[in-house]
Amino acid sequence: MALYNNSLRPFKKVIPTNDNTFTLYSTEFDECYHSTVDGALNESLNKHVIPAFNLHKEKEKITILDICFGLGYNAFSTIYYCITNNIKTKIEIISPEIDEQLVKSLKDFIYPKEFDVISHIINSISDDLYYEDEQFKISIIIGDARESLPIVTKKFDIIYQDAFSPKNNPLLWTREYFTILRKLCSDDVIITTYSSATAVRMGLYENGFLLYEYSPSGIRAGTIASLKVLDLKLIDMELKMSRNKEAKSFKDSDFI
Ligand SMILES: C[S@@+](CC[C@H](N)C(=O)[O-])C[C@H]1O[C@@H](n2cnc3c(N)ncnc32)[C@H](O)[C@@H]1O
Repeated sequence: MALYNNSLRPFKKVIPTNDNTFTLYSTEFDECYHSTVDGALNESLNKHVIPAFNLHKEKEKITILDICFGLGYNAFSTIYYCITNNIKTKIEIISPEIDEQLVKSLKDFIYPKEFDVISHIINSISDDLYYEDEQFKISIIIGDARESLPIVTKKFDIIYQDAFSPKNNPLLWTREYFTILRKLCSDDVIITTYSSATAVRMGLYENGFLLYEYSPSGIRAGTIASLKVLDLKLIDMELKMSRNKEAKSFKDSDFI
């Protein structure tokens, strides 16, 4: 699909964030990989990992789709969270990523000291795009997620929807994209995302997801999507749509 610019891809800058962890700025997408206000580690743990695991306490095995790998904060924070909370659940993470050079460079990135215990995992991902032990398995699928996801056959219990913003990375937020995700969901899937945009929520709603407000203390609110009723604050999408007749989901045809 169009909208990507390989020639700008190598140009990135290291940026400090407010929780004293580092992220990158991407010239290609004109955007940071994390919120500098919320902080890279803080955002990853509080917007994605903790809410998803709080809603999946009982499982023996959890499969996670991490959209997209980037600096790997979401994947690495998941493992860090399991280790520090003595969670023994088997975890398999699959993560598409268009930027192979970025993943190959991660062993030189300045991660938070919290990740010191998993430096062997970071090195393995960076060298081989893969890691496996008795509890954790991570595989990176290099390429455009819009091409790789339709051929994935697994069902996922958790999806971290963490692409760049709809403005700069629109093809990972359209109704058609969420139709692809829908086919990859287990019945009790939890989708976490930092986006609270109505167009994003409508794209999910039009694919049969229920939407919930998620506001962890101290950081910006996001959205949780599920196919089941959750004990969270439900967003009444019918009411929203009746009040805003102009509102619509993003469509592939808006961009290509
Ligand atoms: C906001 S960053 C992800 C941050 C990451 N989750 C983390 O925790 O560090 C978005 C990532 O999506 C990747 N990306 C953008 N469009 C993509 C596509 N169509 N297919 C695969 N990866 C894509 C970018 O290269 C970038 O690494």
